[in-house]
Amino acid sequence: MSTTDTFEALVRRMTWEADGVLSVDLERADGQPLPAAEAGAHVELTLPLPAGALARSYSLCGTPGETRHYRVGVGLDRASRGGSRWVHEHLRPGQRLKVAGPHNHFKLNEAAPQFALLAGGIGVTPILAMARRLAALGKPVRLFYAARNRASAAFAADLAALVPNLTLHFDDQAGGPPDLAAWLATLPKDTGCYCCGPAPMLDAFEAHCTTLGLADAHVERFTPPAQPAEATGACTVELKRSGKQVTVPAGTSILQALLDAGIDVAYSCMEGVCGTCETRVLEGDIDHRDGVLSPAERAAGKLMMVCVSGCKSPRLVLDA
Ligand code: FES
Repeated sequence: MSTTDTFEALVRRMTWEADGVLSVDLERADGQPLPAAEAGAHVELTLPLPAGALARSYSLCGTPGETRHYRVGVGLDRASRGGSRWVHEHLRPGQRLKVAGPHNHFKLNEAAPQFALLAGGIGVTPILAMARRLAALGKPVRLFYAARNRASAAFAADLAALVPNLTLHFDDQAGGPPDLAAWLATLPKDTGCYCCGPAPMLDAFEAHCTTLGLADAHVERFTPPAQPAEATGACTVELKRSGKQVTVPAGTSILQALLDAGIDVAYSCMEGVCGTCETRVLEGDIDHRDGVLSPAERAAGKLMMVCVSGCKSPRLVLDA
């Protein structure tokens, strides 16, 4: 992990927010102010699991710009690979954690004339921070929040206090997932649309926004995107600024090849979701496999996440 933006944090407070959802308030252990974070930002927590440290990204859901403490929401994932279960079962106030960030790949374009915020499950956390920011700016907002049931809908009361135009959807009452297309179809085309939730919701949101011509659409993913069956291809990576060249064998990540060659690269999740390893690309045909970049950013071919994405051309030139 990069050490440039890491610090030790103290867990000041933990709160049971809803069924399977805890909020965790973090302060700097040295008492210094935290970096002010924008709405949509996340931090990476290094969780000291017995089997080995695990880096996990969590969106900040407190008030944007707050420098005394960060608040993250952690949903207990029934398919947890260890991170959320450890937080729920072992993390306690008074403990210390290594924190990296804040980073933001889910920025609000505050110039939009009106906004639509969509949250699914624990994806509510960055949406809550956005709702706080937009309420402070006095911007018109419509908010759609879907959860399995009312008991698991964390922060619903906070959202209701911030956004008068709030639609709540509970799968158990409705008998299934929400009809996003119908809700999105009511929005003006120049609406700034932001969605965070489970992968099927994000996929549906992106597809409907494309169909409906809602071009100012953004998603935040926290689960690794499904990877194609075929491995990434072999290539030679040239680092423009240092002049170094590194051979990347087929099936090996560019990040791993760079680290093996002794090159210092900032990284955290190694799964294409946190954005820490984002690197500028000067030449080459990128094989994008991350969950961070938007379709427009992918198409532009100027950025890549070297932890998961590969190269379709034999040579790749990075601004590094
Ligand atoms: Fe997290 Fe690459 S290290 S996206």
